[in-house]
Amino acid sequence: MNYWAVVPAAGVGRRMQAGLPKQYLLLNGRRVIDWTLEVLLAEPRIRGVYVALGAEDPFWESCEHAGHPRVRRVAGGEERAHSVLSALLALETEAAPADRVLVHDAARPCLRPEDLSKLLELASGEAGGLLAMPVRDTMKRADAEGRSETTLDRSRIWHAFTPQLFPLATLRDALEQALAAGVAVTDEASAMEWAGNRPRLVEGHPDNIKITRPGDLELAGFYLQKRNA
Ligand code: CTP
Ligand code: MG
Repeated sequence: MNYWAVVPAAGVGRRMQAGLPKQYLLLNGRRVIDWTLEVLLAEPRIRGVYVALGAEDPFWESCEHAGHPRVRRVAGGEERAHSVLSALLALETEAAPADRVLVHDAARPCLRPEDLSKLLELASGEAGGLLAMPVRDTMKRADAEGRSETTLDRSRIWHAFTPQLFPLATLRDALEQALAAGVAVTDEASAMEWAGNRPRLVEGHPDNIKITRPGDLELAGFYLQKRNA
């Protein structure tokens, strides 16, 4: 089985409210995206990593892994799903349709190598899979007025993380068709589900957070420091 990775990194990080996109912020002395790429590049089964970047990105060239022989840059798109699709189309020039592709957010620098391995081992089938975590709290669905309408069956609700792993051509078709149909595609699994597949939920560690809001950088710094200590 051949594996590749796609890293969407073309977002502006609006919710982070920093002076630059969050993937380029310093995290324990190193850019967020460099932490992320290091985990992917350390996995010998991954043959190449496609990074989707914004149109005029002045930061990428100064990253540690910008010149890495297994890293290639491609242009991102309007939304995350467009950035992923753009990278998949570029990947198709060197990969086979049945090759497996891992999609992993640039903004998730705390991925553990053992979780990555676990995903490769458990989700390399046709239906693919994703790292995820069962929710801990009781889950409510609100009505339009913000009142609790019902309590959901917690045993079947998960948080979806990345990486998400799928066969290249199946994922490309699902993304293209879901986008054309106007479906909200917030992750690869949602496009795959829409196309009738049931990706496997693989339980990962809760520290695989997506840096989204200001306090998240500090939390990620704590996780990485604790691990490396
Ligand atoms: N992303 C992308 N292309 C886009 C939008 C997002 O490649 N057009 C990437 C981001 O760079 C990030 C990942 O998708 O690595 C997850 O998206 P998100 O957390 O929403 O990042 P941003 O869109 O940058 O943040 P925000 O939504 O707060 O603006
Ligand atoms: Mg976004």
